[in-house]
Amino acid sequence: MGKKLLWIPVALLGIGCAEVAYLSVKAPNMARPSDIKVAGTPEQVARGKYLAEAISGCADCHSDTDGTRFASPIKPGGHFKGKKFPKEAGLPGEFSAPNLTSDAETGIGRISDGALIRAIREGIGHDGRVLFPIMPYPEYKSMSDGDVQAIVAYLRTLRAVSNPLPPSKIMFPVNLFIKWVPQPAGKVAEPDRNNPVEYGRYLAAIAGCKFCHTPTSGNELDTARLFGGGHEFASGEYKAVSANLTPDPETGIGRWSEEEFLKKFYDYKDYAANGPPQLKPESFTVMPWLGLSAAEPADLKAIFAFLKTVPAVKNAVETHPIKKEKS
Ligand code: HEC
Ligand code: HEC
Repeated sequence: MGKKLLWIPVALLGIGCAEVAYLSVKAPNMARPSDIKVAGTPEQVARGKYLAEAISGCADCHSDTDGTRFASPIKPGGHFKGKKFPKEAGLPGEFSAPNLTSDAETGIGRISDGALIRAIREGIGHDGRVLFPIMPYPEYKSMSDGDVQAIVAYLRTLRAVSNPLPPSKIMFPVNLFIKWVPQPAGKVAEPDRNNPVEYGRYLAAIAGCKFCHTPTSGNELDTARLFGGGHEFASGEYKAVSANLTPDPETGIGRWSEEEFLKKFYDYKDYAANGPPQLKPESFTVMPWLGLSAAEPADLKAIFAFLKTVPAVKNAVETHPIKKEKS
């Protein structure tokens, strides 16, 4: 299913020859991958699995998923073998989320730990290519060194599955514009897990809540209205709009109790365990309910505590607008 549709090339028309020539030679801001070797302790593997599956959504994009069912569950055998994004996602080009199993030919078996870490946080592929930011590296840039290493430790435990996929092809001129997106992450300190508001802020970034739940203005997030909702996601004729998560009492979650907030997520545990129902146009969503239903209570409480501190935004959102007219 299509997830992040911010880069549709609306604002990219009307650039001149000089700009194109400049952009063609512009080198992205890229650091060398580090020569780290991740230890792969049981603690790292467990933390990495939790982040990759429940919190940061890696499994949703990098697995073969069933888009005909609510919230696109992972198909049996599809776990981390990668997928080609469907045309309906409306992306500027053809995109594959690569196979992240340890297969040497078609997976990450031959990619170093340092190159994986750079790809995840900085958006530079193992071959030096600028990754298309549907891979949410701008969000993962704030992921701590410990957490990104834990994810790599977990990926290394995945049984090799051979699944060749076509490489992504990014349309001109989007392929030039994305050269600005990658930024070196440097060293990222561990967040303070004993401070719920700070830890909630951290999780809301690396879980993509901030990205998906902030309205857009042109091709950018409208940072004056963080978490204000209204970010639209379409796939073919389906559409979902993100909810307002700010403390506004009328249009946000100002009147929700912590208990109600947690229940929203845990209500999907049954779907995660037994398989969700067939997708109906009015239930279409990109909200990663299945993965997040496994988020720990303390983590959801931290996110809730943090959301209570963001400035209230008045923005009434209809999260499941009626199916768009067939064209
Ligand atoms: C919204 C979908 C999405 C999510 C979520 C996502 N990815 Fe990706 N990822 C992609 C796509 C698509 C590409 C390929 C981009 C391209 O080809 O330009 C990619 C590329 C990569 C690469 C680059 C491999 C190489 O060529 O060197 C790695 C590694 C990776 N992702 C790991 C992760 C990890 C780990 C997570 C979770 C922390 C994650 N991804 C979350 C979609 C996603
Ligand atoms: C890929 C985009 C995406 C990500 C990532 C995402 N959301 Fe959502 N979220 C949505 C959309 C779209 C909806 C509206 C459709 C629905 O309810 O399923 C939604 C709905 C919700 C709702 C329901 C609100 C209501 O009024 O029923 C809550 C609560 C929520 N999200 C919280 C979060 C939190 C917290 C995170 C991060 C841990 C998060 N979301 C991550 C897109 C996203």
